[in-house]
Amino acid sequence: MMDTKKNILVIGLLITTFCFYNYLIYTSKENGEPIKLSKKALVGQKIWQDKNCWSCHQTYGLGGYLGPDLTNIYSNKNKGPNYIKAFLNSGVKSMPKFNFTEQEKEAIIAYLKTIDSTGYYPNYDAALKVNGWVELKYKNEK
Ligand code: HEC
Repeated sequence: MMDTKKNILVIGLLITTFCFYNYLIYTSKENGEPIKLSKKALVGQKIWQDKNCWSCHQTYGLGGYLGPDLTNIYSNKNKGPNYIKAFLNSGVKSMPKFNFTEQEKEAIIAYLKTIDSTGYYPNYDAALKVNGWVELKYKNEK
């Protein structure tokens, strides 16, 4: 009889802790404002989706795996906007040539620039805090 009461108490305590922890997570303001895309970047995003860049490329590791991850290609010292343009101009054996207009290319670059501004992938600069959060280093931190 004593055991049952004790068990109910422990389960009750666990459920309360669980609810409280969830409350903290879902009301946390730590994640900040969602990223806003400029008009140009929105056009780029639409092309990205319409032309299925995602079927071969990833951002933040998500997408197809035929081509490389493009999260930080914009700020990559050896690559950047002109390099991106060159790929869009000519394609390669395993990437189709798209015949984009200059504006379309600029829009895709604006989209990739915005993605680049949001963080690093892969992100090796992560710290595990005592409360279980993984703290990542973001690019747009004040
Ligand atoms: C059919 C698959 C496929 C599609 C669709 C595709 N790509 Fe690619 N892309 C590749 C492959 C594979 C490479 C790597 C080629 C190489 O390095 O030889 C690549 C390379 C690139 C690169 C250079 C990456 C680097 O780090 O060197 C850029 C930029 C790029 N693609 C942009 C795009 C964009 C933007 C789209 C959509 C408009 C797109 N790709 C659609 C397959 C694809």
